[in-house]
Amino acid sequence: MNKFSAVVLGSGLAGLSVALRLADAGQKVALVSKRELSECNSFYAQGGIAAVVNQNDSFESHIQDTLIAGAGLCNSETVKFIVENAPAAIEWLMKAGVNFTREKNDIHLTREGGHSARRVLHVADATGAAIIRALVERVSTHSLITICEHHIAVDLITQSNDSSGSKECVGLYVFDIKTNQVKTFNASNVVLATGGAGKAYLYTTNPDVATGDGIAMAFRAGCSVANMEFIQFHPTCLYHEKAKSFLISEAVRGEGGILTLPDGRRFMEDHDQRLELAPRDIVARAIDFEMKKYGVDHVCLDISHKSKDFILEHFPNIYAKCLSLGLDISREPIPVVPAAHYTCGGVVTDLAGKTSIEGLYAVGECACTGLHGANRLASNSLLECLVIGEALVANILAEKRDISPELIRWDESQVSDADEEIVISHNWDELRRLMWDYVGIVRSNKRLDRALRRVCLLRDEINEYYANFKISPDLIELRNLVLVAELIIKSAKMRKESRGLHFSLDYPECGNEISDTLLR
Ligand code: FAD
Ligand code: SIN
Repeated sequence: MNKFSAVVLGSGLAGLSVALRLADAGQKVALVSKRELSECNSFYAQGGIAAVVNQNDSFESHIQDTLIAGAGLCNSETVKFIVENAPAAIEWLMKAGVNFTREKNDIHLTREGGHSARRVLHVADATGAAIIRALVERVSTHSLITICEHHIAVDLITQSNDSSGSKECVGLYVFDIKTNQVKTFNASNVVLATGGAGKAYLYTTNPDVATGDGIAMAFRAGCSVANMEFIQFHPTCLYHEKAKSFLISEAVRGEGGILTLPDGRRFMEDHDQRLELAPRDIVARAIDFEMKKYGVDHVCLDISHKSKDFILEHFPNIYAKCLSLGLDISREPIPVVPAAHYTCGGVVTDLAGKTSIEGLYAVGECACTGLHGANRLASNSLLECLVIGEALVANILAEKRDISPELIRWDESQVSDADEEIVISHNWDELRRLMWDYVGIVRSNKRLDRALRRVCLLRDEINEYYANFKISPDLIELRNLVLVAELIIKSAKMRKESRGLHFSLDYPECGNEISDTLLR
């Protein structure tokens, strides 16, 4: 019964768009998602999606901005491919029912850090929600898509390909959260669209689903993973005891918001001449520096000099959320702190999303195509999901893989019910705190060594638990998260320089040699 031409893991923009395109081309697809379809990073995207759609802008300028943000580590072929295919991706979204915000007859373009022009299309300040709602509606009614919500993928099934001698992916094990059973899926193609790993950190803008599952599964299966040290910290996450992971969009700075210390002093002029619109690594480090220098627990983002009408028109969602917490942003500054936001590294793929394992693809935040290099330019990630997703679908259709070997079923005969669930919650908290304390915005050899020692202990304890007890969603995620944390630390230790998002007190300068950090 569980035999598909393609199993797509994840229902963010990458997974939904791939599933839809495949099904529209006549493929039988399973769309597997560990919560409801709309619970994903993509849903929470605020600022928008970058694309050159205005005649005053140019591909060359978008390419240059991306390369500059990426601090020498972007793959220029990838950047060119994605930037030049952006207008077609936008058209596809509009045809799928996304109505971008307009000003008079034109699409309104907002500005974000690192962009030298206004080029970010958006739906007010809730772009992701509008996109995901439109696509969920389409996949939900598609006759060729089998939707498996509340199903969490556990591991990929691979075998060696007799004719080519290489490894191929033939299916996967999936835990059904409602029945507590592990199902076996046969798949000619498996697409990892499982998103990033923000939950490796104590403070993050990401929702709970971002536990790096796809990266961990691919690594266990033998794929290369690159540039995992480049974790992007968004400069402005709302700082409020009752708000969990609420982002204050970069577009607030793009539309004139200024950063100040709690006493009202502006500080970005001491750090970068682009002020509040410097790329986010610079702004996040500046905030971290000022918070440590003055011993304050947050800084402020002030847009209250703009009229209330302007704020309501551009940021209705942020305004309403803050007001619900007793904060009127048209009258007072917003308390903000940096938080883990985006995983720039991931499973190494080519421009068609192909990994080193036949039949296994990765797309979106879990992949590393070379677009982001050492630092992602704002609003380039939604774009990457769409452009690589389209190329990936074309590749699957061209390759026409059709295999369904007999697969070994999941075996639970050697394990018992978990004895102490507290081990999971304790290790989960410990892991996220140690990553925040030792592998955050500013790193050092000593901090990374400390982090690696602790993570290895946690990893061994979690793996032992996994080997002896029945699995649960929390255990599956924790096992993945601890592996991803290990990959982040090991990659950070390999990089003996400061570049983009990776800043080390021991190597404060950017080195001459430009290379990716590869782990396998
Ligand atoms: P996601 O959207 O995160 O989807 C991952 C999916 O995989 C989820 O459905 C999840 O449940 C599922 N999944 C994970 N593991 C498993 C498993 N084991 N089994 C089954 N399912 C699984 N980028 C921009 O370009 N513009 C923006 O304005 C912007 N704003 C952002 C605002 C916020 C608050 C955040 C957190 C991110 C923002 N980003 C933005 C980044 C962007 O949203 C993400 O990079 C992008 O959405 C990633 O899409 P994705 O499809 O790869 O992953
Ligand atoms: C934001 O709205 O600030 C997020 C944009 C992004 O992460 O690309």
